[in-house]
Amino acid sequence: MDYEKEIGRLKQELNAVILAHYYQESEIQDVADFVGDSLALAQQAEKTQADVIVFCGVHFMAETAKLLNPTKLVLLPDLAAGCSLSDRCPPGLFKQFRDRHPQHFVVTYVNSSAAVKAMSDVICTSSNAVKVVSKIPGDRPILFAPDQHLGRYVMKQTGRDMILWPGSCMVHEIFSEKRVVQLKVEHPGAEVIAHPECEEAVLNHADFIGSTKQLLERTKTSPKKAFIVVTEAGIMHQMEKASPEKTFIPAPPTNGCSCNECPHMKLNTMEKLYLCMRDRTPKLELPPGLGEAAAKPLKLMLEWS
Ligand code: 13P
Ligand code: SF4
Repeated sequence: MDYEKEIGRLKQELNAVILAHYYQESEIQDVADFVGDSLALAQQAEKTQADVIVFCGVHFMAETAKLLNPTKLVLLPDLAAGCSLSDRCPPGLFKQFRDRHPQHFVVTYVNSSAAVKAMSDVICTSSNAVKVVSKIPGDRPILFAPDQHLGRYVMKQTGRDMILWPGSCMVHEIFSEKRVVQLKVEHPGAEVIAHPECEEAVLNHADFIGSTKQLLERTKTSPKKAFIVVTEAGIMHQMEKASPEKTFIPAPPTNGCSCNECPHMKLNTMEKLYLCMRDRTPKLELPPGLGEAAAKPLKLMLEWS
């Protein structure tokens, strides 16, 4: 089966747009109409004129697309592609957390379920979190969920004190600080670029911190010729395509592997992408009654971005 050709044919037949996150396998990135970070993908999903959005990413990203553009059919190659941040922030516990702090402004990272978004005042992504938090009136106390590491980074950048939900990403929390330091010694000319979901001890060694898209842009504009990349390894595909003359060194996790991959993102394959387009399933269904309440803080984020 020539998946690339068949996916192209089905794209025309369905009048579909294929959106892919940077952590998808390279073949999927190469057949996508648009590859981006979670903010850029949400913006594309909101404005697309296509009838069908085929979302190659994880569940919360496809759900965000559906919330922003509910009349579209949103397909996801593997419905089981979750996210540890979203999974570790169940709506019932989040409600208790929020109810304990009724005066607080609730900022929720987009890596969360629609039910949690519906209980939030504004959503943010890693590329706009600092900007979003800076817009909140100085006299309002803030709750930030569910990524404690991103939250801590935002606190440092904005000087705002926030109460943090104790969540973390199973991929970014296991980068080895020791191995990052060793790589810096082995490659003294390399720039360390890291995603803000990493632990503070790792971020302290970074020369540049940003969302996946911001990291990619940095590798294009930086005068450095080598980069130690402290995020999911899928992003290196676009880095290598954009700057073939530069060297990209993946930072390893503590589990002995040489690079770090998100098991949820990697559930999507070319075969599953083809099958979901052929069969028009699995499709993203919003939890009943939540659409409007969950879309509201997302739309506020887009306005503030
Ligand atoms: P970005 O917003 O940088 O794309 O990050 C999404 C994500 O899931 C990181 O783990
Ligand atoms: Fe979630 Fe982490 Fe995977 Fe991103 S890399 S989707 S935050 S588990």
